Amino acid sequence: MELSCILSVLIFSMLYSQGAPFRICAFNTQRFAQGKVDKAHVMDTFVKILARCDIAVLQEVMDAKGKAIPALAAALNRFENGSDVYSYITSPLLGRSNYQERYVFMYRNKRTRVLDSYKYEDDHLERPDVFAREPFIVRFSLPNKALPELVLIPQHTMPSKAEAEIDALYDVFLNVQARWGTEDMIFLGDFNADCGYVAKKRWSNIRLCEKPGFHWLIGDKADTTVRENTRCAYDRIVVHGEQCLDAVVPGSAQPFDFPKEFGLSETEALEISDHYPVEVELYSACWGLQPASPVGLLFLATAMLSGTGYVI
Ligand SMILES: *[C@@H]1O[C@H](CO)[C@@H](O)[C@H](O)[C@H]1NC(C)=O
Repeated sequence: MELSCILSVLIFSMLYSQGAPFRICAFNTQRFAQGKVDKAHVMDTFVKILARCDIAVLQEVMDAKGKAIPALAAALNRFENGSDVYSYITSPLLGRSNYQERYVFMYRNKRTRVLDSYKYEDDHLERPDVFAREPFIVRFSLPNKALPELVLIPQHTMPSKAEAEIDALYDVFLNVQARWGTEDMIFLGDFNADCGYVAKKRWSNIRLCEKPGFHWLIGDKADTTVRENTRCAYDRIVVHGEQCLDAVVPGSAQPFDFPKEFGLSETEALEISDHYPVEVELYSACWGLQPASPVGLLFLATAMLSGTGYVI
């Protein structure tokens, strides 16, 4: 086999590296706290759900003492056979009364890191104190040359205020844009965006829906609820920014039906949460001097073993 041929295959495999898609999930964990940590079978399922995600945006974490999330991260790392495969960043406790919860981002260290974060100051002149649980906004690095950074904006609305809170996410968009000068962001979480909380005719008043440039990847027909007798698209993923939209793997946004995937009855599944996670995949393909891709290496190995002069 000619050296030039080996070299060209090697160069090809180094130039093009198609990594596994980067999966971002949002999950209303329905009062995640010590009670769930204490049930081994519940934790096992949580861990299996989270291990699918490169970043998981958890909502309704009611970990006032701050012990349940470290326990969840430790269980996830044990499952992954490492001590720091996943890290997390948590918001402060958020809420108006003594009902308070946190947003938590669990993320895979090998593929991403936190670049910056802040809690949205809910003090818009015309709409002060709209959010019961202000977005805790995090900017992450991504393994994608075309989209090296991405802003994630979690939201868990109060059901009775869903319309006003979803609308006010547009103010959050303007705030992020001004602060970090970026267009590429994803709004995600349990918006309570269906089934009596947001009436169909009200959508035309909601700027996050009406303004151009916002792409609702989980549509109104989706079911993000575990209960068999409910069918509601509460949990959503909304993408903004051309680069971000281009990075989305077409058709990858979906609710993750974990009871079906893991063979759980409705009762068993409801011990985990009454919501499905919603998820989307981004390409992590890169052109450039990357470690060679498995496909490229396989091609190279085949070419070398066969000893025949492949021509590219
Ligand atoms: C962790 O190690 C066990 C035992 O060696 C193995 O079966 C399992 O697949 C590993 N898990 C991961 C995520 O690599």
